[in-house]
Amino acid sequence: MFDVDQIRGEFPILSRTVYGKPLVYLDSGATAQKPLQVIETLDRFHRECNANIHRGVHFLSEVATEAFEAARARIAAWIGAAKEEVVFTAGATASLNTVAYAWGEMAVHAGDNIVVSEMEHHSDIVPWQLLAQRKGAEIRVLPFDDEGRLRTELLGELLDEHTRAVAVTQASNTLGTRPDLRPVVEAAHAVGAVVVVDGCQGAVHGGVDVRALDCDFYAFSGHKLYGPTGIGMLYGKRALLDAMPPFMGGGDMVDRVTFERTTYAPVPLKFEAGTANFIGAIGLGEAVKFVQRFDPAEVEAHETALLRHAERRLQEIDGLRIYGRTPDKCAIVSFNVEGVHPYDLGMILDKLGIAVRTGQHCAEPVMTHFGVAGMCRASLALYNTLAEVDALADGVRRAVGMLRP
Ligand code: ALA
Repeated sequence: MFDVDQIRGEFPILSRTVYGKPLVYLDSGATAQKPLQVIETLDRFHRECNANIHRGVHFLSEVATEAFEAARARIAAWIGAAKEEVVFTAGATASLNTVAYAWGEMAVHAGDNIVVSEMEHHSDIVPWQLLAQRKGAEIRVLPFDDEGRLRTELLGELLDEHTRAVAVTQASNTLGTRPDLRPVVEAAHAVGAVVVVDGCQGAVHGGVDVRALDCDFYAFSGHKLYGPTGIGMLYGKRALLDAMPPFMGGGDMVDRVTFERTTYAPVPLKFEAGTANFIGAIGLGEAVKFVQRFDPAEVEAHETALLRHAERRLQEIDGLRIYGRTPDKCAIVSFNVEGVHPYDLGMILDKLGIAVRTGQHCAEPVMTHFGVAGMCRASLALYNTLAEVDALADGVRRAVGMLRP
């Protein structure tokens, strides 16, 4: 049975106070809190098992290597990939830049185009712009409507034989929209383009089966999935990863090195130059183990109950607008209150012990779409409670009373 009180007990930070008030942490979309099993794994490996991976015949190196590769295998199984298709990176941003650089160098040429959805956050926009600038390619935007629905019916107009990639999120970090990716994959593959899915929020809210989705690349960060910072992963179909040139050069990604010529290690090591954040990767494996303890349907039901309650309570506030109203959205609620600046609102909520994100959420085009400078965002996680949602709604009401008498 899904027991939120028991889960909260596993997250030490959730019992702290802020300004003398109980912490109400509603910023998990920016980074999630960590359960004891992740914290303790990181601690134990630093205390007992620290040694560089893939580089020693000594005991500790073998223990660390085995744990690192076991983490890879666990993550691969969790997303439905083969072990060789999971590359450890510094995070989703590093993953997406790896694709835009390594795959982009190989596959994109002048006159080509890359389609990017309007609801992407900056790390799924800027790498594509950099690639397009390097290559003389064009960026095309797949828009969303005012409800936050991705307008996939426009794919036919946007994609053509020069489309090389479609970059799209599995769940918007601002609108909460979980676009139907099937038509995106179908349309992209029909013109020979690859589909790059940003799974930062999607991996947390529902998980993924990359084979069923049939995307070509998939990326997420550890720190949003109850894991450590500075670690993430890139999934790529084996044939694509094999064909791509390396992104960074260095140790561990090579086969033979001479001054005349260097050959590379097989995937995934080809994309893991230098000493990997191996303890972070082991921590990420533990975070996946944590997530796997729960029935995904129960987590979804809990988060949806929180979301519906938040929508209901916030909507009672005069002049409050919620952005992103698609029926199957994930537990992210961005909003503004007429006549109130989101920063002012966020600062008063903070003094009440309530942590929300304010500003552009690294998704300025979404702000531009709605003609606003910023938004307040409550992003919910499996450890949040209905009482915390009530605290948010009461806090917003109180703040609005102060800011807009
Ligand atoms: N992209 C992260 C967020 O949504 C940082 O807040």
